[in-house]
Amino acid sequence: MARLHAPRDGAQRAEARTGNNELASFMDWRQRSPQTMGDTKASLDIKEFPDSEVHQTRVLTLKEWQDKWVTGNTTFHQEKGNQLLKKHLETFLNGQSGLRVFFPLCGKAVEMKWFADRGHNVVGVEISELGIREFFKEQNLSYSEEQLAEIPGATVFKSSSGNISLYCCSIFDLPRANIGQFDRIWDRGALVAINPDDRKRYTDIILSLLRKGFRYLLAVLSYDPTKHAGPPFYVADAEIRKLFGTKCSISCLEKVDAFEERHKHWGIDYIFEKLYLLTEK
Ligand SMILES: C[S@@+](CC[C@H](N)C(=O)[O-])C[C@H]1O[C@@H](n2cnc3c(N)ncnc32)[C@H](O)[C@@H]1O
Repeated sequence: MARLHAPRDGAQRAEARTGNNELASFMDWRQRSPQTMGDTKASLDIKEFPDSEVHQTRVLTLKEWQDKWVTGNTTFHQEKGNQLLKKHLETFLNGQSGLRVFFPLCGKAVEMKWFADRGHNVVGVEISELGIREFFKEQNLSYSEEQLAEIPGATVFKSSSGNISLYCCSIFDLPRANIGQFDRIWDRGALVAINPDDRKRYTDIILSLLRKGFRYLLAVLSYDPTKHAGPPFYVADAEIRKLFGTKCSISCLEKVDAFEERHKHWGIDYIFEKLYLLTEK
């Protein structure tokens, strides 16, 4: 039985919460000069750490992720959306309309609304029900919710407009729901949030969801992994090639300095965001 939820004043509250700090950090982002790269070879000017040097043994449970939402420890969320995606949106869409776009580990990413507003169909998966409810509330969208027969305990939340469906379950259970294939995948805060030992399983699911002619944008973070255990976990250029290289052509579109004050607490002194475009081989 589906339950209906009408929006209240969520958008206004979200705006009020944004405040001046967010504006300041956005201005700060804009003032940094992006370094553009033509291909992955150019990424070698950021030190790459081989597996033998990367000891990211930290493992996060689903409960720990859910608790982050309960305690409001969600600094990964970008209120204004991801600026690299904004910049490369046209390359990503490639002039096509009516696309199916998948958001793995979606949180309450505002970019889901960007695509829905352009008439695309958005599907996300997120383990935190709170995160999903916050998304609809803050985007001022009414929605219904329905239990999934195929996955015990899982729920799908659908916008009343019908073009946003968010599955509340682990991505590792999602294949049982048969959600079909996708033209586009936006992977930010997703591969990098997966425990390193689960990456291959994650990649297999992602590859199974890609439809012919797909475009898959993957954002990762490059920092010194001997100084911070993650998450976000360090994913080397070589690892991306190993995981996706047999099925995908991979190019690095851009890298930008992503260092913020909060990163000092991680014990690191640099961090770059790298954006990869994966296409059919
Ligand atoms: C770093 S956040 C990124 C969220 C979003 N992609 C963004 O850009 O803001 C990772 C998200 O994945 C969720 N998550 C972690 N493991 C998951 C899993 N196995 N299945 C589904 N969601 C998961 C967490 O609750 C969290 O919201």
